[in-house]
Amino acid sequence: MTAPRQLFVTTALPYANGNFHIGHIMEYIQADIWVRFQRMQGNAVNFVGADDTHGAPIMIAAEKAGKTPQQFVADIAAGRKQYLDGFHISFDNWHSTDAPENHELARQIYCDLRDRADGSLIETKTIEQFFDPEKNMFLPDRYIKGECPKCHSKDQYGDNCENCGAVYAPTDLINPFSTLSGARPELKNSEHFFFKLSDPRCVEFLEKWTQDGKLQPEVANKVKEWFSVRTNPDGSTSEGLGDWDISRDAPYFGVEIPDAPGKYFYVWLDAPVGYLASLKNLLDKRSVIDPQSPSYEAYMANLNLEQYHFIGKDIVTFHTLFWPAMLHFSGRKAPTNIFVHGFLTVNNGEKMSKSRGTGLDPLKYLSLGMNPEWLRYYLAAKLSARNEDIDFNADDFMARVNSDLVGKYINIASRAAGFLAKKFDHKLGAISDDGRQLISLISSQKESMAELYETRDFGKVLRETMLLADRVNVYVDANKPWELAKKEGMEARLHDVCTVCIEAFRLLTIYLKPVLPQLAAGVEQFLKTAPFTIQDAATQLGAGHGIGDYVHLMQRVDSKQLDALFEVINMPLAVELIASIAIKSGVKAAPEAASDAKSEIITIDDFAKIDLRIAKIVNCEAVEGSTKLLRLTLDVGEVDDAGQAKTRNVFSGVASSYAPADLIGKHTVMVANLAPRKMKFGMSDGMVLAASAADEKAQPGIYVLEPMVGALPGMRVK
Ligand code: MSP
Ligand code: ZN
Repeated sequence: MTAPRQLFVTTALPYANGNFHIGHIMEYIQADIWVRFQRMQGNAVNFVGADDTHGAPIMIAAEKAGKTPQQFVADIAAGRKQYLDGFHISFDNWHSTDAPENHELARQIYCDLRDRADGSLIETKTIEQFFDPEKNMFLPDRYIKGECPKCHSKDQYGDNCENCGAVYAPTDLINPFSTLSGARPELKNSEHFFFKLSDPRCVEFLEKWTQDGKLQPEVANKVKEWFSVRTNPDGSTSEGLGDWDISRDAPYFGVEIPDAPGKYFYVWLDAPVGYLASLKNLLDKRSVIDPQSPSYEAYMANLNLEQYHFIGKDIVTFHTLFWPAMLHFSGRKAPTNIFVHGFLTVNNGEKMSKSRGTGLDPLKYLSLGMNPEWLRYYLAAKLSARNEDIDFNADDFMARVNSDLVGKYINIASRAAGFLAKKFDHKLGAISDDGRQLISLISSQKESMAELYETRDFGKVLRETMLLADRVNVYVDANKPWELAKKEGMEARLHDVCTVCIEAFRLLTIYLKPVLPQLAAGVEQFLKTAPFTIQDAATQLGAGHGIGDYVHLMQRVDSKQLDALFEVINMPLAVELIASIAIKSGVKAAPEAASDAKSEIITIDDFAKIDLRIAKIVNCEAVEGSTKLLRLTLDVGEVDDAGQAKTRNVFSGVASSYAPADLIGKHTVMVANLAPRKMKFGMSDGMVLAASAADEKAQPGIYVLEPMVGALPGMRVK
């Protein structure tokens, strides 16, 4: 027996500016399956996560929410557990990049880079940047807007024009303004700190580290491009690896740079350090309970420690260049490997936005009583070692769970267990040759299943397992235990066949356990065995082993659950929703829909549930095929994490009163947290407020609300 491997495994640290969406959950499920497999192999794993709390967007979001950044991220953190527990994610620890361990480690790593005996890898340069004189802060590009220098369309973001696609610097904008205050930004010099990635020491190390065959081939190829001189889309050339700007000026929510008052680490400097901080926090807590448990320093000093990071394809640069370089040149060990996955889409939908996941709400999934292990199974079936996007498709989901998981696998046990209980006192019997062959066929896959798990080819594990389940079902259908049970003198054969079913079911369960941990625990209980390890696939329960009573281990997916999960709320439902809020607040009768009779009294808390925002109508178009609707493009002050402007598409029934040109450029009020509604012409993501008389026929006219001058997109109406 070889000594157990020591593994340190992480998932990417999610930004603490929103709840988990299904893309996050997919990443956690992928990593969790791998971790559970390693534990079943007898390896020792520390599996940790944390919230990524720092940076300008979170600071600004906190301010908008009227909270301190600390309060803001604590509120987000408080919501994490229900998701992680809900989907059976077995993290050993969940921490925060704002924790003291992280401040300390980030500063240490920086000092180690700065104070290298063979020459510092940190240098300072003065750069010119836009500054908001009202907010008293330097502005990240995404918070600067102005007129496009090329096509002169107004209200374009600081890095590129959404209208003509031009790419430029924020300083090229005509009449630039800060989206935070509306003020005209000023150019100001500031000293920034850089990590000298262009230093030959770094280039040499990283070329080797990224090209030695450990990375997924498609990832290694992509990374290779960053080293070479290349031509950019705008015709300019880049010189390979450039130095990395790692500092930001106060005010900034982050870690202060040692010996540089008012300077903070850029969030991506301290974010991956959060992996180490979470591990340290875990090990510190453990050594309080168990003095034998290794200290963080001792644990990290183990040369055999393997370190793996599961991440999505959008953050490869940070993890294959910056992070290994930070570790290596600060005298630490670079990661063993980085495992990159693609993006999850839902029902052929768009890639989910980072801040506002769409499509499949994980908590709604759970609250509908849907089994988390259905989702684990379905996603595992689609995952491979390749960095490919995958789509959650509702019909496919139902088919795979119902026909494969329940139909092929669960049924094996349910068919055999009853006879064993009734006729054989719950005891297994002897197996004859045909059954023994089947069992050893399944058992012989142990090594290859382990290899597939090790290489994260979970889809193949499940395909192979279902092929084996097919074999078992062929055996059951050939032997028909339900007929054997009726025939005289066939008792021994019935016992034999049912025993084969249970032994086979046990082996299949071992192969499925990393994906379906709760189900496997139910099977262990039913079969009265110790927790399964992969090695157990080499053994059998054996004649005479007593099993328990079969309790149904897994239900089928009900299509009604999927309907409810993806239900896009329509107008009558929205009215009902508001009514039900009123009912919950103690009001007996629901207000009548679409009536102008006086409404029921609600509390301020009820009202606060409706997120009303100032929206700028940046575009408005007639809708072909509709005389009632206009298509509005609304700016509600939202940006995604890539810093791109995000607008909302909303259909509004105001075409009888307005031409598109009447509305373009105007500000209005919208309900920003109304569930998106699918309409014949597309998705409508919110609702614009407008007034009309109770009897619209007698008194026609619909009036869109417009705020007083000064209201800016994104401001809350309350
Ligand atoms: N905070 C950074 C990571 C810092 S790691 C030191 C970040 N956060 S994130 O919340 O935007 O993303 C967290 C992880 O979720 C990333 O690995 C990202 O690729 C992944 N995903 C975000 N959307 C996803 C999908 N739609 N599908 C699959 N994974 C997705 O980036
Ligand atoms: Zn333009």
